[in-house]
Amino acid sequence: MPALVLLGAQWGDEGKGKATDLLGGSVDYVVRYQGGNNAGHTVVVGDQKYALHLLPSGILSPGCTPVIGNGVVVDPAVLLSELSGLNERGVDTSKLLISGNAHLITPYNITVDKVTERFLGKRKIGTTGRGIGPTYADKINRTGIRVQDLFDESILHQKVEAALDVKNQVLAKLYNHRAIAAEQVVEEMLGYADQLRGFVTDTTLLLNNAIDDGKVVLFEGGQGTLLDVDHGTYPFVTSSNPTAGGACTGAGVGPTKINRVIGILKAYTTRVGAGPFPTELFDKDGEALRTIGGERGVTTGRDRRCGWFDAVIARYATRVNGLTDFFLTKLDVLTGWEQIPVCVAYEIDGKRVEELPYSQSDFHHAKPVYEMLPGWSEDITKAKTFSDLPKNAQAYVKALEEMSGAPISAIGVGPGRDETIEINSFLS
Ligand code: GDP
Ligand code: IMO
Ligand code: MG
Repeated sequence: MPALVLLGAQWGDEGKGKATDLLGGSVDYVVRYQGGNNAGHTVVVGDQKYALHLLPSGILSPGCTPVIGNGVVVDPAVLLSELSGLNERGVDTSKLLISGNAHLITPYNITVDKVTERFLGKRKIGTTGRGIGPTYADKINRTGIRVQDLFDESILHQKVEAALDVKNQVLAKLYNHRAIAAEQVVEEMLGYADQLRGFVTDTTLLLNNAIDDGKVVLFEGGQGTLLDVDHGTYPFVTSSNPTAGGACTGAGVGPTKINRVIGILKAYTTRVGAGPFPTELFDKDGEALRTIGGERGVTTGRDRRCGWFDAVIARYATRVNGLTDFFLTKLDVLTGWEQIPVCVAYEIDGKRVEELPYSQSDFHHAKPVYEMLPGWSEDITKAKTFSDLPKNAQAYVKALEEMSGAPISAIGVGPGRDETIEINSFLS
């Protein structure tokens, strides 16, 4: 099983970090292919808790080589501070590899992210404020700065000046913001060059050779399917492609090389930031999910919006990613409810709809159609096999599997590595 993609099937925070870390011990490379430090991946190893933003979750597995692919946007200051934070905790980060083609998040990209959100006021996206959207905009606009530019001072100078030429006009005239000096940006960026040089390589060549040699490569998505700029709830999305195709463009491997695509799926639903969310709860159940599930953002500390499981979304994730498996997380959080509502379809303008509507207005009007499933009260956090689960928990999982269109191959019953029920091996 040389190449697998692991990605979020909902709006992010499904537990991708834990799932990646779990597989990290058995894979040779873990590769981030999109996004940047907007991600917040929590990994719990024994009594140690790690919050990773930019680094692939495989960094915590000593035998695994972590790779930042060309599709990622890299804030060099964040990268270096994340590395030194891990080094201080005794984690060896020396194997990290970074694509020279990855784009850099510059200080002006962060400024633009913040001022545009402020300008949008009530219509804001609720971004993480990390400069993600503006950096991808520069990339597509062909005014971006790439990691390799750090190693050519004159090119870096030219590119930063070109990028700031227009931006400073917009900042001053539209946003009433002072101009940003190219000189200062270049100086700051050059200050990172020597510290990063040793990590930078041709990751596309490396990963293709690794796959050809039978090595196991895991592509780890940030964010989630419904935050995808093409397939998500646009414009309330991130500016990259967390869906499976993003692994190909964001790492430089062809689709024929990928054998398995695993969707990480929370047993209920959460979302951070603005945008439609049909099963969102505003009552005590929503509050209970937030409290029991610890649903607070790892990156921004914002409370996550919470709601019941939405099978329409799960089916959509199966479709647009070609999912071969699901990893169902946080089943333990649902312990204690007498009955658990599950959204099986939407009602839109009086009509029952089984598939995610392509029209934004329809999705904004979608009302969940719920089916009630019986709950359970037994503690499931010690369950090691599917049959250890109470009958109603088993039935809940089976019902979700039936509705979602791909087998549930693992179940999370707690945040720790060992709090997982493996049903089918991902690596066979
Ligand atoms: P990611 O962004 O997809 O990696 O997810 P986050 O780390 O932002 O959020 C998931 C949270 O759920 C983290 O605090 C994890 O430690 C925790 N978690 C993951 N799997 C489980 C699980 O099966 N049960 C419980 N109770 N917590 C889990
Ligand atoms: P992980 O990898 C949840 C959301 C933001 C906002 C929108 C755009 O931990 O699952 P951006 O800063 O990316 O331009 O913000 O996307 N968002 C996330 N929500 N989990 C994430 O990452 C997210 N990364 C971005 O809240 O609504
Ligand atoms: Mg997260």
